[in-house]
Amino acid sequence: MPDTERSLQDALGRVAGAPDMPALGRLAEEFLGKTGIVGKLLASIPSLPPAERKEAGLAANRLKREIEAAIGARREALEEAALASERAGEGFDPTLPAAKPRRGSLHPVTRVQRELEDLFTSMGWLVLDGPEVELEHYNFDALNIPRDHPARDTMDTFRCDAEGKLVMRTHTSPVQVRAMERLKPPFRAIVPGKVFRNETKDASHEHTFHQVEGLAIDRDLSVGHLIGAMKTLLRGIFGRDIEIRLRPGYFPFVEPGFELDARCPFCQSGCSVCKQSTWIELLPCGMVHPNVLKAGGIDPEQWTGFAFGLGLSRLTMLRYGIDDVRLLLSGDLRFLEQFA
Ligand code: FA5
Repeated sequence: MPDTERSLQDALGRVAGAPDMPALGRLAEEFLGKTGIVGKLLASIPSLPPAERKEAGLAANRLKREIEAAIGARREALEEAALASERAGEGFDPTLPAAKPRRGSLHPVTRVQRELEDLFTSMGWLVLDGPEVELEHYNFDALNIPRDHPARDTMDTFRCDAEGKLVMRTHTSPVQVRAMERLKPPFRAIVPGKVFRNETKDASHEHTFHQVEGLAIDRDLSVGHLIGAMKTLLRGIFGRDIEIRLRPGYFPFVEPGFELDARCPFCQSGCSVCKQSTWIELLPCGMVHPNVLKAGGIDPEQWTGFAFGLGLSRLTMLRYGIDDVRLLLSGDLRFLEQFA
């Protein structure tokens, strides 16, 4: 088959001389494509006399293999040469910035939580943790909320067993009694964490949200100490003194109990955040009820306490101007990437 041999030599010569990758690609198409020499040879086989077909088929396959091998070798040589010239400094600029890795970022709730932890630890408070699946005892009974108490109805509870002995904690307050059992007074602690309520979701209510509990136990604590601590808290959060007011609030585990409102930090005369009232309902608080001290093994004749329960999710919304609490735990990257 002298013709085939000549075509092969010609093809191998041109492949070996291909100056770059695009040229090599064009040659591959020319030789191995349907209308190339291999394709033509294969297409001619059916019209050959039967005795010649086998030999023609073998020759076509050999041609194809050899051209493919030559193209592979040339590709490697070209890549090697390109790399070598890059290494030698041609067309390679080591000062160009590298492709940026995609970096994650802290969740807005985590950011505000860490700020609060820094603020309180700088004043000597501890940061405590507690279980999210909680005993009914700590979530309700030890907090002066017996089984038939109507206050249980205000916190729609996810129950974890048929008897209701285990619940998803509805607030961070159960850690108050756990802390009293573990620590010797005097002590001061905050407890950031997730809480759960079987609530219908809307722009300001989630079934899973964050709170920060605060608890101080010492001798002769008064409402004055509570107000002082709350003002310090707000100064830390908003970076300046914020006017506050206390309204009576009912929680069975504090006596007296208050709802603390802060003067709206965003306006002078009313805005959508404060619903035109210039006050923002921020956190419930109060003096720890003697029954709760007793439940924690602390003598109410000797020790006093104050406590507060900050809605961390709502505070985060206030801080960043987020208008829908459901965004926080949505896992939506379009939302989260704004805090990168
Ligand atoms: C309590 O949970 C009490 N344990 C707080 C407390 C602690 C009072 C210590 C006295 C002493 P309350 O149910 O009001 O209270 O919730 C506290 C805060 O959690 C609210 O002010 C609000 O900011 C936030 N919160 C309540 N329900 C939701 C919800 N469904 N979604 C988002 N935030 C909520």
